[in-house]
Amino acid sequence: MGNPLRVSIFLVLCIFTQSSAPGQSLEPELIGRRSRAVETKKSLQETETRFLLFKDETNKRCQIRLNHPDTLRECGFNSSLPLVMIIHGWSVDGMLESWIWQMAAALKSRPAQPVNVGVADWITLAHRHYAIAVRNTRIVGQEVAALIRWLEESVQLSRSNVHLIGYSLGAHVSGFAGSYIGGRHKIGRITGLDAAGPLFEGTSPSDRLSPDDANFVDAIHTFTREHMGLSVGIKQPVAHYDFYPNGGSFQPGCHFIELYKHIAQHGLNAIAQTIKCAHERSVHLFIDSLLHDHMQSTAYQCSDMDSFSQGLCLSCKKGRCNKLGYHVRQERQSKSKTLFLVTRAQSPFRVYHYQFKIQFINQIEKPVEPTFTMSLLGTKEEVKKIPITLGEGIISNKTYSFLITLDLDIGELIMIKFKWENSAVWANVWNTVQTIIPWGTEPRYSGLVLKTIRVKAGETQQRMTFCSENMDDLQLHPTQEKIFVKCEVNSKISKQKIR
Ligand SMILES: *[C@@H]1O[C@H](CO)[C@@H](O)[C@H](O)[C@H]1NC(C)=O
Ligand SMILES: *[C@@H]1O[C@H](CO)[C@@H](O)[C@H](O)[C@H]1NC(C)=O
Repeated sequence: MGNPLRVSIFLVLCIFTQSSAPGQSLEPELIGRRSRAVETKKSLQETETRFLLFKDETNKRCQIRLNHPDTLRECGFNSSLPLVMIIHGWSVDGMLESWIWQMAAALKSRPAQPVNVGVADWITLAHRHYAIAVRNTRIVGQEVAALIRWLEESVQLSRSNVHLIGYSLGAHVSGFAGSYIGGRHKIGRITGLDAAGPLFEGTSPSDRLSPDDANFVDAIHTFTREHMGLSVGIKQPVAHYDFYPNGGSFQPGCHFIELYKHIAQHGLNAIAQTIKCAHERSVHLFIDSLLHDHMQSTAYQCSDMDSFSQGLCLSCKKGRCNKLGYHVRQERQSKSKTLFLVTRAQSPFRVYHYQFKIQFINQIEKPVEPTFTMSLLGTKEEVKKIPITLGEGIISNKTYSFLITLDLDIGELIMIKFKWENSAVWANVWNTVQTIIPWGTEPRYSGLVLKTIRVKAGETQQRMTFCSENMDDLQLHPTQEKIFVKCEVNSKISKQKIR
């Protein structure tokens, strides 16, 4: 599985960077066009970019032309509503990708929050060698800025009511639009969907999407896995809130092994879909947030995925958590916040995050390496036999903290069944160990003891402590299931300890 995956990343990177080698000469036509765009910054008459407006949910499109107010009327532009503009990325085949229409339809499908939905179609400038398309992002950024300025002058649309949603190179186009627009006020919001990495990673904020480009900038990073020092999606934070679903480097359901599923869905396009699966996941997470109002994904501020996987970051205090996607809480701050979350492999993507903290008392000298399962019983549902692997062996009195995510809403957790799975093999070893080791004066507490399990639910921010139902027999035995019920002992102390 590792190899085909590497091949797929390699392919994407080759395509992305095939022309970024030094010595690449620019087409003269392009240089001409570029300087013209710079000259006519203020009085742009015609744009290379086609601006399309969606008339209704049926995806009928209508072209708006700069300095032609009649086209606004024809296309049904309503200047008292916000404008959401979708900006696509680099193109291999010169075709607009199907997610654009899905996103537009999702934005149009919300009668309670009507918006004008537009697309900046810069396909002729995007269907170039990658390095040239990268240069073109500035031209398109200027044209988008010119369109917004014209809308301000002609129909008094406020730029604070403009939301640019850019994917891949389109994220940087949005950033350039935000910085080229000039004036004292900024564009309302920019969303960068897996902003392109090659030729942008590590550059200065003015050369890529950055938090300075709008009143609020959010970014979703989904394909930042590196190959030979390059990644398709940008790794560094570029927004006020930077979301890294599943750590951001790769996405569940995008492995080559899933190709057959994609063939059923996409037919001959399956290979292309598989290659760009993780990159485009950012788009589908965003669309998901528009389609499932009651299944919004929460993400949590964390330094890295490793700490997140230990369940250490599920706090919402002081604005440390936020919603992924369209309904993000728009809060500016001076420093980028990096947020993590786990998602499912397909829509609806939302999961429920839990931190479990268990402290074992191991009274044997040597480490024990058992495998456990937990069954979680909630007020709505039960989830059976979640496997728990603790990595290293259990040594004396160590507290283990780990993250568990559930696809379904089990309601409030009321009971945990904790089972030492395994194997007759273990049972035998255990018996041998018990008989060989002399336990001294307190034979009752020999072996592995588990008293309490502490739980924190990310989505509800609820903290709970569970105690063994039978306090007289706290010892764990292989193949035996122990029941833990809610208890409030030392709830103050446990609140301080769990973080
Ligand atoms: C524009 O939108 C406003 C606010 O939703 C609405 O009241 C008005 O009727 C719309 N105008 C047109 C021409 O549709
Ligand atoms: C582990 O905890 C038990 C019970 O609280 C205690 O008796 C024992 O000394 C502890 N062992 C270590 C190594 O701290």
